[in-house]
This record gives sequence, C-alpha cells and structure tokens, in this order.
Amino acid sequence: MIDRAREILAAGGLVAFPTETVYGLGADACNPHAVARVFAAKDRPRFNPLISHLATAEAALALARPSALAERLAKRFWPGPLTLVLPRAEDCPVDPLATAGLDTLALRVPAHPLAHALLAAFGGPVVAPSANRSGGLSPTRAEHVTTGLGDAVDLILDGGPCALGVESTVLAILEDEATLLRPGALALEAIEADVEGRVARPSSDPDRPISPGQLASHYAPRLPLRLEAIGVHADEALLAFGRDEPAGALTTRNLSPTGDLVEAAANLFHMLHELDASGARAIAAMPVPEHGLGLAINDRLRRAAAPR
Ligand code: TXA
Ligand code: MG
Repeated sequence: MIDRAREILAAGGLVAFPTETVYGLGADACNPHAVARVFAAKDRPRFNPLISHLATAEAALALARPSALAERLAKRFWPGPLTLVLPRAEDCPVDPLATAGLDTLALRVPAHPLAHALLAAFGGPVVAPSANRSGGLSPTRAEHVTTGLGDAVDLILDGGPCALGVESTVLAILEDEATLLRPGALALEAIEADVEGRVARPSSDPDRPISPGQLASHYAPRLPLRLEAIGVHADEALLAFGRDEPAGALTTRNLSPTGDLVEAAANLFHMLHELDASGARAIAAMPVPEHGLGLAINDRLRRAAAPR
C-alpha cells in the first residue's frame, strides 16, 4: 500500500493519509501541477499556504533557515503535532504555489507510523492540508475523507481514528521569538514550559487574520452552531462537555463526560460530523474551559459558529 501511495505521489497524484492530528491530503510539494490539484480538490483559496511534511526533523530544517529557538523546538517536539513557520532556505525546492508566494515555509514532522512510512518512502516534502473541502469540518477518520472529497483523491490510506483529533499547533519563529498562529493539539503550556519566555498570542481580530488560514468562518458543519449553550431546545443536537449535560436534545454527543480536554479534542470533529447528519435544526455546544487543549477546541468551535 505504501509503495502504491509513493508511486501516486511521484506521478503527481493525491494521497490522503492519517496523521496523529487529522487526515491530510498529500501531494508532491515540488510539483506545481500536484499542488494545484490540492487547491482544486479542496476548493481552497490560493492565498492560504500549505504545510510541507517530512519524515525527519533534519530533512525539514534543511528546507529553511532555522534560528536556535526553531532548532530547539524541532528537537523537543518533532515528530509530533507542532508546525513551525520559518524563513525559506535560498535553495528550497517547495513550489511557490504551496507557500502562496511567501518567503516563509510551514514545516511539520508527524508522529503517526503510516504518515512516517509514506514520507520516508517518498523522500521529499509532501504538502498536506486537512483532507476536507475548504471551510468545512476536518476529517479524523478515513470515512470523513471519502464523504468530503470522494473521487478527487487517488488513494486513501486508512489508519482508523486520529488519536489527537485537532490540527497541529502552528508557531511562527522569527529569531528568538515565537508567535502562535493557530492553537492546536500541542498545548501552549507544554511549549512554554520548554522555551524561555512566553509564546506571543496576537490579538484575535477575525477581520485581520495573522495567518492566511485563520479566517473567521472555518471548520464549519452544515448546520448553524450555537456557542456557550447551558440549556437545549428539542430540535437541536447537543455537543455536551462534562457531567452537567442538560436533557431534551434531539441527539446528544458528550465530548468528555469526565471533563478531560484531551479526550474532548479527540472526539470533537467526529461528533460534529455525527451531529451534522442528525436531522436537527442546529447544533448547541456547551462551554469548554480555555486552557490546555481547550484553546484549540474553542478556536475551532468559534470559527464553526462564525457568520459564513
Ligand atoms: O495537523 C495539521 O497541521 C494538519 C495535518 C494534515 O498535518 N494539516 C493542516 O493543514 O491542518 P491546513 O492546510 O488545514 O492548515 C495549515 C495552516 C493554515 O492555517 C495556513 O494558513 C498556515 O498553516 N500556514 C501555512 N503556511 C504558512 C505560512 N508560511 N505562514 C503562515 N501561516 C501558514
Ligand atoms: Mg484545514
């Protein structure tokens, strides 16, 4: 299967593959036609750059001009759910379409064994946005990819449900300064415990996104989403969290009855997919605490609820 996937990538095709965060839609990062197919399959705006994935930290850092801080973070957290945005190396072969013409490059070394096997077999950088239509719910199971993208993908590697369930944390590193571009599956607390000083959190003005991908409306189910729900209406589907789940919803899924944010992140997109197909008029989401993986969960829920 990996051999077939490698051949498809080498021929400019699209391979969806599991990572520990979400499923990615992979293509050869150095082939402009393959990269263009990724944007077309997702209906993704061309100004939103893609992450290049590599098998090892060494191979990833060779494409950029990493500062000492970048090297330290790479050593500490790769392979894993962290993406680093770094200045491109002069001779970086990643196609400019993949980086939306920017002089920076987003890099990630995933920890999932299937992703690692594919990247090691292919050898070069593989762009992989989440394998969903642009703006929609992210895929955390192979069947989400099939439903969302269908024939646009040449091969789907099925690795079962993704363990973490929300996208990687994206940090921009300029010299000795780290800025959070997207909260994600690696908790900020874990990063800040490791680097001296804090990670800058730019003000979250939805009309002035600091990363091209941080559009106000994103990760959206088809149904309208209501935030901070305490009670629920009979025609609503409930995305609950914790013990105090109100009764009376048409359908209910609980992200974590015990209030565990890691479990909640792993369940988030699958439960949203399920509630979206439940026949309800809307989805009501209960409040989730704003620490640990709660930052990433609330970021996704806010964007899912934003005016479209
Ligand atoms: O967990 C993940 O990161 C998954 C898996 C498949 O690796 N991938 C993923 O890709 O979430 P995508 O394309 O859905 O999100 C990439 C994010 C976008 O918000 C994009 O704007 C940002 O990374 N990004 C990519 N290159 C950038 C750059 N040069 N500067 C700033 N932001 C960048
Ligand atoms: Mg995405």
